[in-house]
Amino acid sequence: PVLVVDFGAQYAQLIARRVREADVYSEIVPHTASAADMLAKDPAAIVLSGGPSSVYEEGAPSLDPAIFDAGVPILGICYGFQAMAQALGGAVGRTGTREYGHTEASVAEGSCLFDGTPADQVVWMSHGDAVQAAPEGFKVTASTSQTPVAAFENRGRKLFGLQWHPEVGHSAYGQAALENFLYEGAGLKPVWTPGNIVDEQVEAIRRRVGGAQVICALSGGVDSSVAAALVHAAVGDQLTCFFIDHGLLRAGEREQVERDYAEGMGIRVVAVDESQRFLDALNGVSDPEAKRKIIGREFIRSFEAAQARLIADIGAEGGEVKFLVQGTLYPDVVESGGGQGAANIKSHHNVGGLPEDMAFELIEPLRALFKDEVRAVGRELGVPEKIVARQPFPGPGLGIRIVGEVTRERLETLRAADLIVRDELTAAGLDEEIWQCPVVLLADVRSVGVQGDGRTYGHPIVLRPVSSEDAMTADWTRLPYDVLARISTRITNSVPEVNRVVLDCTSKPPGTIEWE
Ligand code: XMP
Repeated sequence: PVLVVDFGAQYAQLIARRVREADVYSEIVPHTASAADMLAKDPAAIVLSGGPSSVYEEGAPSLDPAIFDAGVPILGICYGFQAMAQALGGAVGRTGTREYGHTEASVAEGSCLFDGTPADQVVWMSHGDAVQAAPEGFKVTASTSQTPVAAFENRGRKLFGLQWHPEVGHSAYGQAALENFLYEGAGLKPVWTPGNIVDEQVEAIRRRVGGAQVICALSGGVDSSVAAALVHAAVGDQLTCFFIDHGLLRAGEREQVERDYAEGMGIRVVAVDESQRFLDALNGVSDPEAKRKIIGREFIRSFEAAQARLIADIGAEGGEVKFLVQGTLYPDVVESGGGQGAANIKSHHNVGGLPEDMAFELIEPLRALFKDEVRAVGRELGVPEKIVARQPFPGPGLGIRIVGEVTRERLETLRAADLIVRDELTAAGLDEEIWQCPVVLLADVRSVGVQGDGRTYGHPIVLRPVSSEDAMTADWTRLPYDVLARISTRITNSVPEVNRVVLDCTSKPPGTIEWE
């Protein structure tokens, strides 16, 4: 792999993605890893990321300098560039000049990183310190008006560095610089493609599973679907999927999952209706975190009951049920390994959140993949586009879109409104522009209206259309007024309990995407 060394900012994941966009496999490692740890992974190249510190501050993250003598091609970015300069005998200092945002850089002819790119280019800077002198044997390959040493390289030693951030879109030739490093500097080939990923995974799963039975909890979302499709491609009917209907689904969702997977993909799906169990457990509860915990817990119980029945049914004749498939993605792996202690904003419930003491071995075929790669793998496997391109839907479903207690009647009201919204957004061709559009029933709020000849005292429905790249941040989508008008009219005309439709125009932060 190409190792991306994380110096503690958000850049490492983005760099890892950009490397993969160049069809080269990458992994993130913490900067505390020793040179020996890194070399044990047999890295094809190493990228040192940016970070928030100053290299000469006490306790600043440093790097085992032995790594520079291992003959592995290395690219240092921003903080990584400075750390590299310092470790190799150059000079780094606080120059008093700071560069943030768009900056003009001039790059040297004949440099490796900037080969084929214009002599003057816009780059994205964010630094207070600067490299003042390149280490001996290094050639300075770029400068800006504030920063005379903005990039350097030593081709013989395959060591390269640049002060700006090639991984952000604002650097006009950033991806070109990364690709120049990977292909020319490090001599790598673009072979990390969806087709190769599928071949490797299918082969590995087949070897591991042998003749055993595999089960999977299917949510209908992209991750569990693609994970199931991969395992199905490897072991066919040895896979059985469960679909737990917790009664908090949107209109038609369960039927659609049964159709798409069983008929469309030939995967065996056992759907279980557990809605009464969830409604009973949610009775009288309106606190959002309490609801989330209850739904998570009941999900596990439902799953355990379902798999016990399956083991009794097919386990006996079909062989041992030994494996459980989970759709864990690479960002989850990085984040849980990072131990950064991010604040718990919401307890996310995922279909993957299964009990630890289950007697299964886990198969996590998406563990090395980012979301966009999961979609590409799904397409490669022939997973229908409507599943691959599906908008996110939270595990706890409509349970966290009813502000107040969850009841069967309220679920019906919300389902009817949600169906109209989805219908109108699709009809207006807005599905791709919108990341997702939660529809929220303010069950604890009442509003006065006049409908027909009389006064009504009903509930508002909130529309929360958002645009986003990764759900970490989001902006509210500016829906056309006429689409909003049609949605509002249809909902208030046909959903009895609702006499008002309102639009949530809050970005994230400060608002989260879901209301609870
Ligand atoms: P928030 O509300 O935290 O949501 O801004 C970010 C994204 O995560 C989805 N979401 C969930 N997904 N289980 C999930 O699988 C959950 O418990 C959950 N809560 C929120 C939300 O729909 C959005 O895409």
